[in-house]
Amino acid sequence: MKTYKIGVIGAHGRGRHAWQAHRVDKGFEIVMGADPFDMPLRDREYGHKSFCEEFPNATLVKDYREVLANKDIDIVFITSPDYCHEEQAVAALEAGKAVYLEKPMAITLEGCDRILRTAYRTKSKLFLGHNMRYFPSVLKMKEVIDSGMIGEIQCGWCRHFINYGGDAYFRDWHSEQKNTCGLLLQKGAHDIDVMHWLMGSSTRRVVGMGMLSVYDKCARRSADTEGNASWSNEHYPPLEQTGFSPVIDVEDHNMILMQLANGAQATYMQCHYSPDAERNYTFIGTKGRVENIGDSGKCEIHVWTARGPRETPDLVYHLKPATGSHGGADGPIVDNFLDFVVNGAKTNANPVAARDAVAAGVLAHYSMRKGNMPQEVPQLEPELLEYFANNQQ
Ligand SMILES: NC(=O)c1ccc[n+]([C@@H]2O[C@H](COP(=O)([O-])OP(=O)(O)OC[C@H]3O[C@@H](n4cnc5c(N)ncnc54)[C@H](O)[C@@H]3O)[C@@H](O)[C@H]2O)c1
Repeated sequence: MKTYKIGVIGAHGRGRHAWQAHRVDKGFEIVMGADPFDMPLRDREYGHKSFCEEFPNATLVKDYREVLANKDIDIVFITSPDYCHEEQAVAALEAGKAVYLEKPMAITLEGCDRILRTAYRTKSKLFLGHNMRYFPSVLKMKEVIDSGMIGEIQCGWCRHFINYGGDAYFRDWHSEQKNTCGLLLQKGAHDIDVMHWLMGSSTRRVVGMGMLSVYDKCARRSADTEGNASWSNEHYPPLEQTGFSPVIDVEDHNMILMQLANGAQATYMQCHYSPDAERNYTFIGTKGRVENIGDSGKCEIHVWTARGPRETPDLVYHLKPATGSHGGADGPIVDNFLDFVVNGAKTNANPVAARDAVAAGVLAHYSMRKGNMPQEVPQLEPELLEYFANNQQ
């Protein structure tokens, strides 16, 4: 049995997700990591093991190019910050590695297209870490929609309440546009992608409104101290919190309207200072409506197929809590990626769709920062669309 050797670029933080791919008995071995920094403060606070403690036989280097230069390595996970994705993904594909790239694909549309074109030219395999396509609640709503039970979907809404926004996105690199473009990519790329997937299309025109309304008023840390993105429910109300980034220029609430290519329309609203946390989607079709109540763990999918009160849906699906991080999606997405690399398995996540989510996010941020004018999404070359639609065969 061949053993696939794996490198992890961005060894801590989200890199811990990649650690799940280490399955020596199944022929997958993490042999190298790259990280220019020490373990993030939040990992240390949570008492997590370091990469070297978890993988004593692996090598940890500072420069990711050493991982790519290692001819023994077949697969790399790129779990570094968003602003690294374009450069590292292009280099990894050029080096002939199969790539698992975390979302968002890149922080510009040009960056996404450069990654896609490199994958197309080199034929190195590319997979995007859109783990919400593996969430049980999202899969159940997709099943309801695909069954035709609620007819043709004409409109989709997502209200995204984020109670950990101040902890996760306003204390370190996430708080600056130069690192993320904005939180419609860093966070919203997940939901825009889910809406595209469930509505069977992608955004052609987008309008955005949003502003920085709360966290700019909070107490900052000095630039020479380490940002701490660890989460606590004690961190409330937002205006009483401290330790925020010296530079904050991303919006803390965002609202966007999307015109999809198939004629349907969607809206996504995101707030980073809410006391509670949930992604609440609803899709309304010509014969009914579906909505999730809870997005992970124990949740319900409600379906209305007859006219009547909101309190009495016609169907309720009770989903059992799944084990594992991100609503139980993180294990299945790694399984699907490895199966794709080894056997060419069909994937839920899709590189062109990841690009379309970034496109809607980037252009919505552009719209909200430049007078709220509608923005058109440029189209990809047909040969790229065909290549990725055929699962990179
Ligand atoms: N799919 C998901 O649910 C999910 C969840 C969390 C994070 N993410 C994504 O994972 C990525 C990392 O996020 P994070 O919160 O772990 O960030 P982080 O700041 O903790 O960074 C992750 C790791 O990358 C390292 N790193 C920083 N610069 C690097 C470089 N130039 N080269 C190699 N490594 C570098 C950091 O030291 C850290 O160990 C982001 O793109 C984020 O969007 C995805």
